[in-house]
Amino acid sequence: MPIRRRIQSGKMAGINRINDRRNKSFYFVLMFMLFFLSILFTEIFFVEENASMEFSFFERLRWKKDTNKEIVLPPHVARELAQVITEEDLDIIVNLYYDSQQDEDDELLGSKNADHWQSVRGTKDKFFVFSAYLDDRRVRLVRVIAAARTRNANKVMCKFWFAGGYPPVTVPAFNKLIQENWNLKYSAYFVLCPLSKGLSTLPERVSIISSENAEITNWLVVHNNKKDSTSSQGIAVCVKPMHYSYNKLLNFIEFIELNRIFGAQHFVLYNNTIGHDVACVMRQYMANGMMTVLPWKLDLVSQKEIRTEGLFAALNDCLYRTMYRFRFVLMIDFDEFIVPHKSESLIEMLGFLINKKPAKTGAYSFQNSFFYLQWPKDPKSSSLPLHLVTLERTMRKLKFHPHKQRSKCIVLPERVVEMGNHFVWEFLPGRAMVDIPSSIGFLHHYRICEFGGNDCINTTSVVDRRIYRWKDQLVQAVQTRLRNWDFVCNFSAVSSDININISH
Ligand SMILES: *[C@@H]1O[C@H](CO)[C@@H](O)[C@H](O)[C@H]1NC(C)=O
Ligand SMILES: *[C@@H]1O[C@H](CO)[C@@H](O)[C@H](O)[C@H]1NC(C)=O
Ligand SMILES: *[C@@H]1O[C@H](CO)[C@@H](O)[C@H](O)[C@H]1NC(C)=O
Repeated sequence: MPIRRRIQSGKMAGINRINDRRNKSFYFVLMFMLFFLSILFTEIFFVEENASMEFSFFERLRWKKDTNKEIVLPPHVARELAQVITEEDLDIIVNLYYDSQQDEDDELLGSKNADHWQSVRGTKDKFFVFSAYLDDRRVRLVRVIAAARTRNANKVMCKFWFAGGYPPVTVPAFNKLIQENWNLKYSAYFVLCPLSKGLSTLPERVSIISSENAEITNWLVVHNNKKDSTSSQGIAVCVKPMHYSYNKLLNFIEFIELNRIFGAQHFVLYNNTIGHDVACVMRQYMANGMMTVLPWKLDLVSQKEIRTEGLFAALNDCLYRTMYRFRFVLMIDFDEFIVPHKSESLIEMLGFLINKKPAKTGAYSFQNSFFYLQWPKDPKSSSLPLHLVTLERTMRKLKFHPHKQRSKCIVLPERVVEMGNHFVWEFLPGRAMVDIPSSIGFLHHYRICEFGGNDCINTTSVVDRRIYRWKDQLVQAVQTRLRNWDFVCNFSAVSSDININISH
């Protein structure tokens, strides 16, 4: 009997049942069945068709799904299957398999099915895990991005899951506090899971558990970027979690496009809450492969229990997520731009800088300078077709902040262990921060007075039209996006807001 028909006939029931029955015991039964089935099918197809034996059963199912062709099971196989499994169970398994495959694909594209916050059950205080990365730079370990109590976080263990039928292995974990925590109850953590030298294979997944026999409540893919990417090239940008239904459409497009003009290739963003228009634009960028968006729903109260939606967990996730894939990574906010003042682009500037101290450099620090939004707009901007903040606001505070105070970094991820907001907390041995003089480049920061009110407006300022170097390119890039995506995103609904939004 064709599997295809079974899938369709039982699909609705299957989906409902998935929702109903996604509990642990079921999961284990499922794992067992998958394992059993894969053995069964490998054997069967081996006998039936020698020619294409490099395909596994699941690859065949997938191929079938992709091409919409049917795989007709030989009668004796269908009979054998029918004895061990009901049709509905098969539907569930097939659907779940597709879901999990989808996860793997989407991960690269950064969709909703990728890493997300999951809880560890059985701990005294709340304990969450987000993602896991293989890190063999010093000792070989799996580094899990987590959030837990700042003082005396619960001891946990790591349960490694392997492909190829190896049994899982459980090891005690080591909690390493990520140092920036603002004295709140919860902090970002690295949960370090050591990989013993004796292991002949690397784990595919890891679960963080409160004790040896605790219930499995999380299931993280162990990312192995080093293996999965050929070389680290180009520039990526990381931004802390987006919240308050972030919807500054024009600011957002301006941020992406100006950074692209500077040479950035990819953006990694975290979705706490995003407004309709920005979300629609993000989907277009994602479809173009330029953006990764990770869901970011951490069950802790922002600013009361943990600093700004756990931003230090996001920054460090982004550090490891981009490692081995991008050579340089910017860690900035949407109202900040690291602007080259001597070179024409960040690529050119970084190419020049890296040759000065090729071995020692771990990251570059760029000084902060405020372009206060209360200051008047540049008269030159009045003829622009769009309200772009970097072209309208050209008055900047004369005095730069010293490095480490509000400065932002471009890091070489492979050389960094722990990232902070304004500087690097820990480098690999022999690597260090290089402070960049403002004549080469600095951080343009577009915002209102930092201490509230208008006290800042009387500080000494200068006019800085550096961004006008890229004016035409920038205006054209933003206009093109708005024009191309208006139809899908229905910007007309906000066209009046575009002015209001942006004029600050
Ligand atoms: C952001 O997350 C919400 C769910 O929390 C989801 O519905 C939405 O599609 C996500 N947006 C993007 C652009 O990823
Ligand atoms: C700025 O300076 C002007 C003129 O000296 C003064 O009238 C105004 O009150 C000052 N504003 C603030 C916010 O300090
Ligand atoms: C687009 O926005 C307009 C104005 O708000 C609204 O009337 C219209 O229904 C929207 N169209 C779609 C397809 O959402």
